[in-house]
Amino acid sequence: MTESYTLTVNEVAYSIVADAQRSLLSVIRGEVGLTGTKEGCDDSECGACMVLVDGRPVNSCSYLAVQAQGRAITTIEGLASGDALHVLQRNMLEEGGVQCGFCTPGMIMSAHALLDQNPDATEEDIRLGLAGNLCRCTGYAGIMKAVVRTAREGLSTDS
Ligand code: FES
Ligand code: FES
Repeated sequence: MTESYTLTVNEVAYSIVADAQRSLLSVIRGEVGLTGTKEGCDDSECGACMVLVDGRPVNSCSYLAVQAQGRAITTIEGLASGDALHVLQRNMLEEGGVQCGFCTPGMIMSAHALLDQNPDATEEDIRLGLAGNLCRCTGYAGIMKAVVRTAREGLSTDS
């Protein structure tokens, strides 16, 4: 059944007309037109599709878009300010946490939620917090260095 509703993504309201069974991932990439959020497994296994809903990380492949009405959705596109990268994005690049980049948006959204909730996260906290995000390329060392560095510098550090 087709539903009409509004989604607020990165503080912008979008009017959506879509089947009620569509996932948040599918609507963000299709109707909203933001393709930074990636589709990997489409089964809650890889974390590539991670976005924030009211500040909490969710696998958007397994979350109905209609359920996100009235909530604040943040995608990777919502972190940078214009051309200036967010500190997590910059540190990922500088610490070698990005190779093919497919996992990177989801990894960054999970790391953002983690450091937002726990600014003093230890390496162990970070490892646990990112356990739902898989990376096939980097071996995770660069990703860990980037997130540990961000914890040290602070999430809101200007780029
Ligand atoms: S695409 Fe959603 S968890 Fe893999
Ligand atoms: S950088 Fe390729 S999957 Fe993580």
